[in-house]
Amino acid sequence: MSKSESTGATDTGALEIKDTRTGKMYTVPILEAGTEGDTTARAMDLRQIKQSDDEFGLMTYDPAFMNTASCKSAITFIDGDKGILRYRGYPIEQLAEKATFLETAWLLRKGELPNQQEYDSWVHDITFHTYVHENVKGFLQGFRYDAHPMSMLCSTVAALSSFYPDAKNIQDPEERNISIIRLLAKVPTLAAFCYRHTKGLPFIYPDNDLSYVENFLSMVARMSEPKYEANPTFVKALEVLFILHADHEQNCSTNAVRAVGSSHVDPFSAVAAGIAALYGPLHGGANEAVLRMIKEIGDPKNVPAFIEEVKGGKGSRLMGFGHRVYKSYDPRAKIVKKLADEIFKETGIDKDLEIALKLEEAALNDDYFVSRKLYPNVDFYTGLIYRSMAFPTEFFTVLFAVARTAGWLAQWEEMLLDKEQKIARPRQIYTGHPERSFASQLGNARGNAIPHVRST
Ligand code: ACO
Repeated sequence: MSKSESTGATDTGALEIKDTRTGKMYTVPILEAGTEGDTTARAMDLRQIKQSDDEFGLMTYDPAFMNTASCKSAITFIDGDKGILRYRGYPIEQLAEKATFLETAWLLRKGELPNQQEYDSWVHDITFHTYVHENVKGFLQGFRYDAHPMSMLCSTVAALSSFYPDAKNIQDPEERNISIIRLLAKVPTLAAFCYRHTKGLPFIYPDNDLSYVENFLSMVARMSEPKYEANPTFVKALEVLFILHADHEQNCSTNAVRAVGSSHVDPFSAVAAGIAALYGPLHGGANEAVLRMIKEIGDPKNVPAFIEEVKGGKGSRLMGFGHRVYKSYDPRAKIVKKLADEIFKETGIDKDLEIALKLEEAALNDDYFVSRKLYPNVDFYTGLIYRSMAFPTEFFTVLFAVARTAGWLAQWEEMLLDKEQKIARPRQIYTGHPERSFASQLGNARGNAIPHVRST
């Protein structure tokens, strides 16, 4: 095997490209494939293609990263056509059945499953960093009672950066480690505090005797009882949902964490960017949107009309359906559906759930959705489960954020340690005016502007 001159990559074939503008031929190496056969060519290798020496060179145009690999990653593998999701090689189905969330968080970060000693000290460290500075309560009180908990979570996680100024020493492995532990430990506390604020309830401090999930539920739901005892079905369900949501390779929020983190800002700020991205209804906000859609439909008899409206393209989309990557069943949705059945056995079926089941049945049997490979995604069912557990709709995406923090941090650290990564800075195709001379359109020449008098 020879080495390609421009990239140093092992020669695994090349593209012969002819520029019809100049008649020149170029050779662009195909890079060594990933473990699962992903093949790529380096976009920078196209830069040599130009009509004259003073030209910038050919770029690739790929809005929304439809066909661009932004990094090499060994964390999560997805095969969207086959409906496969694996963390560090382990199928999501096995992790959901056998692992704990914190074991999964370790796996995502370290690449291997922890042994008992590693696990015990990981759990201990996270458990003993769950408290937040008392001042955090002060600024949470500044939010209005109806503030969206995702806005609150995003701001409070960003604010944590100011409590841990040493977190900016991201090249120091010790600092990275403690920041990662602090984020995994404190995001559930902040999430629960956001919930309590919207309900006007006193904040509940962490209970270090409880597991990660039990402690979270305790901080959310405990009232006057001295010790909170969570419903074991709910604890199990939340543990599984946290594992399913822990990572999903280069999705919108992870890309946000990597892009913001690539500026070498501290991880609290980078994770806050991930939370902001997750908030959007086309991403983590979809589970909330599913419930709102169901409320709008109002009655199972309105389902056929709603489906027709969606197909007409004038109304909203069928929220909780479709995925950028999965063009067959979302493997997480399969696990969640089973989980949902177990929960609903305990909590019962109501009108909203009937609407959801009818929507699912109608879409799975309709050519519009089948031909576009639009299947239920994980968010279609998670919203229904969370609602059965009595979480308010606005809080669903917060639950997603708590779990995804594990993946964001693993991806952030992988990005920092990747020697090929630099500050993320895309190119553009400029479509604005060419250079033109300034000619004021205002009535008054510069310096003679009439002072603006505010009318009272
Ligand atoms: N309902 C109705 N039609 C849809 C839907 C939907 N949920 N999703 C896609 N389509 C249609 C589009 O209108 C388009 O049809 P056309 O070819 O006739 O124009 C076709 O399917 C392809 O759609 P795109 O928008 O190109 O697909 P893309 O991969 O860009 O979008 C996305 C993926 C954003 C998830 C989309 O399916 C969607 O908006 N779904 C609803 C929101 C949702 O559930 N998001 C959660 C994603 S999972 C997560 O973030 C955890």
